[in-house]
Amino acid sequence: MFTNPFSRQPGEVTPDFHNPDWLEHAIFYEIYPQSFYDTNGDGIGDIPGIIAKLPYIQSLGVNTIWLNPCFSSPFGDAGYDISDFYQVAPRYGTNDDLRRLFEEARRMGIRVLLDLVAGHTSTENEWFKQSARHKRNPYSDWYIWSNNIWTRTPPGSRHQFIAGMSERNGGYMPNFFPFQPALNYGFANPDPDYPWQQPVDAPGPQAVRAELKKIIKFWLDMGASGFRVDMAASLVKDDPGSRATIQLWREVRTWLDQDYPEAVLISEWGIPERAIRAGFHIDLYLGFPGSGYISLFRKHQWGGGFGPNRRGFSFFDREGLGNIAEFLDEYGPQYAATRQAGYICLFSGNHDTSPRLGSGRSREDLKVAFAFLLSMPGVPKIYYGDEIGMAGVPGLPSKEGGYNRTEVRTPMQWDTDANAGFSTAPGEKLYLPVEANSGDRVVSEQENDPGSLLNAIRQLVIIRKTHPALANHSAFQVVYARPGRYPFAYVREGGGERVLVVVNPSSQPADVEITHEQLPPAAGAVQTIWGVQNGLKPAPTGWKITLPGISAGMYKI
Ligand code: NOJ
Ligand code: CA
Repeated sequence: MFTNPFSRQPGEVTPDFHNPDWLEHAIFYEIYPQSFYDTNGDGIGDIPGIIAKLPYIQSLGVNTIWLNPCFSSPFGDAGYDISDFYQVAPRYGTNDDLRRLFEEARRMGIRVLLDLVAGHTSTENEWFKQSARHKRNPYSDWYIWSNNIWTRTPPGSRHQFIAGMSERNGGYMPNFFPFQPALNYGFANPDPDYPWQQPVDAPGPQAVRAELKKIIKFWLDMGASGFRVDMAASLVKDDPGSRATIQLWREVRTWLDQDYPEAVLISEWGIPERAIRAGFHIDLYLGFPGSGYISLFRKHQWGGGFGPNRRGFSFFDREGLGNIAEFLDEYGPQYAATRQAGYICLFSGNHDTSPRLGSGRSREDLKVAFAFLLSMPGVPKIYYGDEIGMAGVPGLPSKEGGYNRTEVRTPMQWDTDANAGFSTAPGEKLYLPVEANSGDRVVSEQENDPGSLLNAIRQLVIIRKTHPALANHSAFQVVYARPGRYPFAYVREGGGERVLVVVNPSSQPADVEITHEQLPPAAGAVQTIWGVQNGLKPAPTGWKITLPGISAGMYKI
């Protein structure tokens, strides 16, 4: 049971779908294909490159890969603008290469998830080109068009339309950048005065819904294990409380459970309570305002991106000026509401979250951050390169619509050869430049160093896998969390085992006493399973935690 000292809990989501067993031990690894490993010397990572690096991925102990979009695209938004949902982008390889990745990964006990961009396509997609024609055709209603080119913001709508680009007399609604037209899943409450607002059960929106399932089926049949769904909450427009969008995804999940019970859907939603209710197995816990995620690692540097300026102090910083309550206040109620029905994914970073976790942090800082990330409930996810503390390259010109996100998308650092072993292309032909002065933030340098971050993460993954208390679903209870104070301590419990985790990211030592009410006495002796030896000791009426600055410990009690 979660105990949140700061907030009240919302209603629980009923567990009315069955989750496949493998999720209970899943650990994700996100690969941005452009930047992982280039096998043909064109300066861009590719699918054969991912296959070549499967032994490395396996050595991390992770068992699930999530691949950012790898489909045909003009790459105005790094592939989130798809021109053909059924075709691997030639720069990454062929459909057969992807099939081979599924097969070889599966042989090594690794599942592969693709990215499902459900809400929009590229303007280069044939469906959109047909839809943009004057003459009515089967695709006319696949996108959201106003019925007059002069209505850029039609009355009654908060949406902007893009007009003047087609022979069709109307403007289309973009879903993200202007070249990403929204697919038409209908409006929750269409206004009869504006017939371009179609109901969700109109033929156009229903055809799009059917196509969505067709895409899912196509790749699952080829060997994919599921999808991360881009902007999952964006489908039905003007949808208060996301009710109609939740309904839509529940329909997809019901179908999926019948035909593909082992497949999973992970949402980019950021409100687990809604996403899990919608039938997603996992919701990504995002850096949107109000999620509390930013306050963990990126508060002081967070200037742009989504939402207001959020400067301040992160909890995971040496200054020790952060506030764990900012995270728990938001996360706690979401966790409590969804823990019976699904999982929250806490991640080290992603292709949108700048700066990288490793930016401005030492190896020891990062070990503490990963001790937390790899011992919390839910499904953890490591963003490629975070396991070696990559810092990214700030200040780059925007690449493929990346803007401030470009800095976290640079090539993986494999060794100390040219281009950090990422590619044999001349430096100026690389997708993005590699980090200069990368020091030991390189795989080959960390492989044989027992004190490296890479090896610490491998150990943490083994500990998570071999301790049932740390399994994804095992209980989570806060033991010590004071606004503005350090450390943060919590218990994980499951499979007849209880593990206390204490993290102290501050450079000041942490020395606190906790009562037996907060942490009941142990049946036997305390066993240190990771980090600071004997950081937890019995005291007369409770327990004493003593951790040096920038350290963490896990204790079986
Ligand atoms: C979220 C993706 O993570 C991001 O990279 C992309 O730009 C937008 N969705 C639009 O698809
Ligand atoms: Ca290549």
